[in-house]
Amino acid sequence: MCGIVAVTGYRKALPLLVEGLEKLEYRGYDSAGIAVIDSDNKKLVCHKAEGKLKNLKHKLDKKIISGSLGIGHTRWATHGKPVLRNAHPHCDWTKQVAVVQNGIIENYFELKTKLESEGIVFTSETDTEVIPHLIQKELNNLSNLNLENSGSTLLIAVRNVISDLEGAYALAVIWSGSPDSLVVARKQAPLIIGLGEGEFVCASDTPAITNITNTILPMEDDEMALLTPLGIEIYNSENERQYRNPISLRLSEQIVDKKHFKHYMLKEIYDQPQIAKNWIKQFLRNDESSLTSINYPFDIQFLKNIDQIQILACGTSRHAALVGSYLLEQYAGIPTNVFYASEFRYSPPPLSPNILTIGVTQSGETADTLAALNMEIKRRQSSGKESYKPNLIAITNRLDSSISRLVPNIIDISAGIEIGVAATKTFFGQLLSFYGLAITFAQIRKSKTHEEIDKMISNLIKIPPILEDLIISHNKISEELAHNFSNMKDVIFLGRGINYPIALEGALKLKEISYIHAAGYPAGEMKHGPIALLEKKVPVISIATPGNVFEKVISNAQEAKARDSYLVGIAPECEGTEIFDYLIPLPLIDEWISPLLTVVPMQLLSYHIAAHRGLDVDQPRNLAKSVTVE
Ligand code: F6R
Repeated sequence: MCGIVAVTGYRKALPLLVEGLEKLEYRGYDSAGIAVIDSDNKKLVCHKAEGKLKNLKHKLDKKIISGSLGIGHTRWATHGKPVLRNAHPHCDWTKQVAVVQNGIIENYFELKTKLESEGIVFTSETDTEVIPHLIQKELNNLSNLNLENSGSTLLIAVRNVISDLEGAYALAVIWSGSPDSLVVARKQAPLIIGLGEGEFVCASDTPAITNITNTILPMEDDEMALLTPLGIEIYNSENERQYRNPISLRLSEQIVDKKHFKHYMLKEIYDQPQIAKNWIKQFLRNDESSLTSINYPFDIQFLKNIDQIQILACGTSRHAALVGSYLLEQYAGIPTNVFYASEFRYSPPPLSPNILTIGVTQSGETADTLAALNMEIKRRQSSGKESYKPNLIAITNRLDSSISRLVPNIIDISAGIEIGVAATKTFFGQLLSFYGLAITFAQIRKSKTHEEIDKMISNLIKIPPILEDLIISHNKISEELAHNFSNMKDVIFLGRGINYPIALEGALKLKEISYIHAAGYPAGEMKHGPIALLEKKVPVISIATPGNVFEKVISNAQEAKARDSYLVGIAPECEGTEIFDYLIPLPLIDEWISPLLTVVPMQLLSYHIAAHRGLDVDQPRNLAKSVTVE
């Protein structure tokens, strides 16, 4: 989704901005631009290009732009097509103020109509363009006051304007009248300030600032800040100055290295065994005397009163939540519901006491998930009933994100920054967190015996080496199999029980990066409609792990075979699996932990199909790494 980077200091801004934007490319975008105040003539210089950043770099090639104050942006179209005129930065009619913005200004149409009636001509279809015009109008008004400090003047002008804006946004503003002042503001969209030496940077995501500093101050909602080479001033919505200590980025948030892999996605699939090792080290404990075997960074006493769980998430995180709900209900015996965060917000179930709400989001910034959680917190607080506590947990990969500020109890999956837009290792990390929660609830509720819990734990401990071997062998197999799929138009994924969400995830991964239509179904549901699609050109990928529903899945696969579909099985080499035209073999493992392995061929197959089709695997079209608009 859109990315912001902005800098003020002593070095030339242009190369720093371009470097920052390169680090934000992974978020997904369709145009890019920069604006700098040229230190020679104090004029605003703005350059933009459609498409990838390389097009902008090409435009900037050989241009000498001095000036150490600038803003940059990668845009993911919401209002207006992904064309040059809509790319950010946007300037006011006098070309003195430039603005980059993430998010959506909901009342832009009304503001635009008013500005147009005053004779201001708009050059884009964006919601953002109202902002620089409004700021310029404010600057004109403030000029009568003859304020001494131009930075403060800009700050006041921006404050006056944002009080009229509705929606969720993060923005950065520069003005040629104050050639070293940067004003930034945040409302429900991420923005962090980086503290360098003699320079300050502001960005929507940490990778964009690591070329300058590892010391950050995440901005809170409704805050704005003035950054100059001499320091920063942060203010809350009441215009009170805010003071707080900066924090250091963890090493995993700083390193964004593709190593020898062709794409980040492949590297991130290969990262998974290490994530399992880290999780085992961090979360499993040997302390017999404690309440549970899982090590949480928060007090879990409140979980003892919980008798129901609701999980809010989107996309891949929702699929992890579905595996989680299976574990929580079937293993730990606690009723659990999973909701699309975007639906929950507008049609929540009736309130009930003693419910635990879990938000799952790798980015910690997904607007739908944050809004749903916010709504849930507020409605519980305003219910007036003491028993309706907002018992909350969030599972995220980004401790510096908005969800970490919203929710008191955070399970950090510590997977390291994920660059590939299609989530892989963060999904895996989310699954592990759910295994931890299922064990905890099984212990609290005594729904499983000590022996059963020990068995689950020892099975989890065995995962890393099994996974390492599996990834190596499945990588080869998937590369080979990908050739058979590259001309397919539809693919069906089937799974049952705990592996049904993995079928959904397989279909989502394939759609996202290879643009092949795919759908996942519970295997038993196929005969109730989807079977009509089956024919030679519609392959079926079935997950069949020995356990509760193995024979059933094999029978469902037979039904597909009878309709001439090419059948791929993700299953161990055992009786029954000879039915598959192509077998991606699994080791014989306990069904409870099988999703941690069955997801791997899903990820690798989609990866190789997309790579074989020559597609941009890490930055698929129209997608964004963190979806900060509703
Ligand atoms: C899939 C994918 C998306 C995200 C979804 C939620 O590969 O990346 O479906 O899972 O946008 O994102 P988070 O987890 O950041 O809330």
